[in-house]
Amino acid sequence: MTAKIIVFANEKGGTGKSTLAMHTIIALLRAGKTVASFDLDANQGSLTHYIENRQNFARDKNIPLPMPEHTCWTPDIAKIYTLRSQIDKVINRVDAIIIDTPGAHTDLGGQAMVMADCLVTPLNDSLVDLDILATVEADTLRIKGPSHFAQTVWSTRQQRMLERKPPINWIVVRNRLLYSKSKNSRTMSILLNALARRIHFTLAGGIAERVVFRELFLKGLTMLDFRDNNIHVPSTVSANTARQELGVLLHQIWGSDILVETK
Ligand SMILES: Nc1ncnc2c1ncn2[C@@H]1O[C@H](COP(=O)(O)OP(=O)(O)OP(=O)(O)O)[C@@H](O)[C@H]1O
Ligand SMILES: [Mg+2]
Repeated sequence: MTAKIIVFANEKGGTGKSTLAMHTIIALLRAGKTVASFDLDANQGSLTHYIENRQNFARDKNIPLPMPEHTCWTPDIAKIYTLRSQIDKVINRVDAIIIDTPGAHTDLGGQAMVMADCLVTPLNDSLVDLDILATVEADTLRIKGPSHFAQTVWSTRQQRMLERKPPINWIVVRNRLLYSKSKNSRTMSILLNALARRIHFTLAGGIAERVVFRELFLKGLTMLDFRDNNIHVPSTVSANTARQELGVLLHQIWGSDILVETK
């Protein structure tokens, strides 16, 4: 077994990397896969805190919840090990390795991207966020060229080619979509579809804005933990639609053999 390495990266902060990384981890665990996770954003530690909250909740409520084998990449660990050596320790033991990276350009994030079989870039539905992928002419909406992060992905792809590694499956997912069909949303669709062809990524279905994503953090729960008794993750129509959206994303990340339960 060689684990599939899935890296969540976007040099822009606050786009949903940690939230979607956690949901991917739990979706895979609930589908019977074994998962190791790495938080390369030790300063903020959102993914690590999310997992710690989950451990505390499971212990306090005495509910066995599926957990990944987690490492927070603290300066103490970084002093002793390289990221590659720690990945190599688990790569033949688990089905998936999920790596969450900081919302800024870092060497460590770059190292993770070179290892990625699948790179997931969540994007808020805003032209400000799109700016990390491409610069766009205001009047004509013509794409002038790729921006810094797109160029980083391009050099990562070149490096992988030199190392004779298979190409990265790059998925861009619009996150926190609003229900109202605004002009901004239509413009984003047009530009992202054009960009997907030009800089070669798959545009994922998209995840709507739902307050419940924020509320679940403190208990370490995800939208996919709704089956266990005494947990009270909502099972409303809106929550089921969220699970369907996550299911589409998981298919794009993992392939069609993954089942995300919706109701
Ligand atoms: N689909 C969603 N609906 C509502 N809120 C969301 C959604 N996705 C993420 N959020 C919220 O958006 C904020 C940013 O999410 P998150 O921390 O996952 O982003 P990030 O990209 O990891 O940020 P950073 O770059 O700072 O690490 C959080 O408050 C999170 O709860
Ligand atoms: Mg984060």
